[in-house]
Amino acid sequence: MKLFIDTANIDEIREINDWGVICGVTTNPSLIAKEGRDFKEVIKEISTIVDGPISAEVISLESHGMVEEARELAKIHKNIIIKIPMTKEGLKAVKVLNSEGIKTNVTLVFSPSQALLAAKAGASYVSPFIGRMDDIGNEGMNIIEDIVKIYNNYNISTEVIAASVRHPMHVLEAAKAGSHIATIPYKVFEQMVKHPMTDLGIERFLKDWEGVDSK
Ligand code: E4P
Repeated sequence: MKLFIDTANIDEIREINDWGVICGVTTNPSLIAKEGRDFKEVIKEISTIVDGPISAEVISLESHGMVEEARELAKIHKNIIIKIPMTKEGLKAVKVLNSEGIKTNVTLVFSPSQALLAAKAGASYVSPFIGRMDDIGNEGMNIIEDIVKIYNNYNISTEVIAASVRHPMHVLEAAKAGSHIATIPYKVFEQMVKHPMTDLGIERFLKDWEGVDSK
């Protein structure tokens, strides 16, 4: 499973990219707004750090507007993936963009049938939102399992991005379900890397090393 970082914060992207564990970035309008900077500038800067798919989301709600925004965003860098909301207008935009060779990530996916339609329209990626499903009392991970199964049944090349990840268990469950990608917030990467036994082990090694003559 590939790992992306889900943030628009440059420091967070640099740090996790330096760990060598990510090969893509996802952003959304809320994450961009938190940075208080020009949207295109942020996306451009991200593309100088990570050499992989970088999702940038459109704001228009009708297909023509989405396509126009997408064409502009796609000019920023060859790695830009256009995030399109899962609506009828969104599907129309995906169809047009696909015919122009512009890759899309259909976002705000909450059901396997939405994911099937997105793939049929020509989406390169779909983003089912696990955490937000859990929030309303559903088992978010079931959607990942179902979508992976459906795509595998028909050799569909659209990749599943497990999104709205809230904790390390989401990442592990997504990997077990066969998700192609998980997009992970910085905080969750920090949680994944830590283990008290690792810290204790280092502490003991260093203490024992005090008694060694290493000159
Ligand atoms: C994914 O592409 C979205 O940006 C993100 O995962 C949404 O996560 P949230 O539900 O924590 O806002």
